[in-house]
Amino acid sequence: GVVELLDPRPGEQILDAGSGTGHLAARIAASGARVLGIDASPAMVSAARAEYPALRFEVADLRTWRTPETFDAVFSNATLHWILQPSAAIDTLARVLRPGGRLVVEFGGHGNVARLTDSLRTAVGEVTGRTPPPFWYFPALGAYCALLESHGLAVTEARLFERPTPLDGGEGGLAAWYDEFCGHVLEPVPVAARAGVLARAQELARDRWLDGRWVADYVRLRVRAVRRPPGGG
Ligand code: BEZ
Repeated sequence: GVVELLDPRPGEQILDAGSGTGHLAARIAASGARVLGIDASPAMVSAARAEYPALRFEVADLRTWRTPETFDAVFSNATLHWILQPSAAIDTLARVLRPGGRLVVEFGGHGNVARLTDSLRTAVGEVTGRTPPPFWYFPALGAYCALLESHGLAVTEARLFERPTPLDGGEGGLAAWYDEFCGHVLEPVPVAARAGVLARAQELARDRWLDGRWVADYVRLRVRAVRRPPGGG
């Protein structure tokens, strides 16, 4: 849905911010647009270059990246919740958009994976005596739109919606998800106690075991905005 909202057109210059493995950049390029994908992970950029040698991918930190290029549209999917300085990221995205250009982003919104991560944070706290703070940026719709507006971006569409997402791997699927995305939360837990913490987190999250599989409580924030011309008109 978010690529449809972007509505890429032939000849457009489009930035994919957080291009990961490059699959969505390739979909956007299939429309005839010229795409640059950037990602903070050198491994992701290598993988994307290997799979899509005809496309451009660069390693870049969205908070500080500067380029002389400008873009007709900026796209980002499942990336912006990793950046805990949202103003710095939005500043970069607004700078590279030409006046009238559009920003289309989707990422985790307020409440995203709250049941899963609260269960893990609680289980870690029971062992260490200190509940880790929330660790991603999942803003409320109004707050995020206000931030975009304060950077000269006029919001034209914004939606916060639930997308319950089944996890692969049966009973072990939630532990695998924690392992993939929440390794840093487990760091204060002694290695010997980690399996017990994961088991306790799964017990606390048991209401997300539905019809024989774990279902992650994903909540998406999807926004389209247009860069105002200089002078704010
Ligand atoms: C997501 O919302 O896409 C997400 C959030 C946290 C970890 C992994 C994915």
